[in-house]
Amino acid sequence: MQQLENKVAIITGGSSGIGRTIALAFAREGAAVTVNYVGDDQDEAEDAVKQIEDAGGKAVAVRADVTSQEDVEDLVRKTVEEFGRLDIMVNNAGVEDQMPFLKMPLEVWNKVIAVNLTGTWLGCQVAAGRMVEGGEPGRIINISSIHEERSMPNNSPYCAAKGGVRMLMRTIAVELAPHGITVNNIAPGAIETPINENLEAHPDQKEKLLSEIPLGRMGKPEEVADLALYLASDASAYVTGSTFLIDGGLSRHTSRF
Ligand code: NAI
Repeated sequence: MQQLENKVAIITGGSSGIGRTIALAFAREGAAVTVNYVGDDQDEAEDAVKQIEDAGGKAVAVRADVTSQEDVEDLVRKTVEEFGRLDIMVNNAGVEDQMPFLKMPLEVWNKVIAVNLTGTWLGCQVAAGRMVEGGEPGRIINISSIHEERSMPNNSPYCAAKGGVRMLMRTIAVELAPHGITVNNIAPGAIETPINENLEAHPDQKEKLLSEIPLGRMGKPEEVADLALYLASDASAYVTGSTFLIDGGLSRHTSRF
């Protein structure tokens, strides 16, 4: 039996990387999936939809900027129009723009906070509103980061946003529990996706990173998707308000070892 049979899911930032892999994994397990994209990523999103449909699944691509309330409402409305309901919301869209704190313009702070924190807050609120209205239990999964807890020099807005997503999740998990909606975070370490492409151009940085990962390698998007699948499935019915690290032990690294 498929684990997400008859379920409907939205994946924000679903045209690439971790989001795309989660969309494909959910569809493989029977969910109808809305692949959200932004800007000029329509071709990639349509390509993910085609891949799902070719395998016999159901999917649709919907453009929405997660920082816009109107767009996020539109994203949820179109999903319900297309598939009749909403069971699972994955707030995956994210950006980073690294530079030293003392040199960072306010615009960079505003943009990174808008996508990673406000976008996640909006996705949670609009999706949960629809789940409550539909009278169905629901699942919200936020892709945060090990930087919801761990500092990263030159990445202050990203760390602040992901730390904010941690407390957002903990708070609304309590508020939404009476409605049968669970809320959890997945906190990946270093995963092989476009967000980390710059590492390939800096082998010295990559080597240093790998030396800090006890399992000695970067993670694969498929490994994150497997965890998302667990959190979306019936197997995790009693799990809410938690962050799940998936980082090869990076957060537990100690340089004295
Ligand atoms: P990615 O760059 O492939 O994915 C990010 C996606 O978010 C892209 O599809 C992008 O178009 C979308 N996006 C950006 N701004 C948006 C907006 N305003 N509205 C809608 N979509 C928007 O990179 P990756 O790695 O797949 O990132 C996915 C999530 O995982 C992000 O939240 C990221 O912070 C998080 N993450 C990734 C890690 C990694 O090592 N790859 C580690 C920890 C967390």
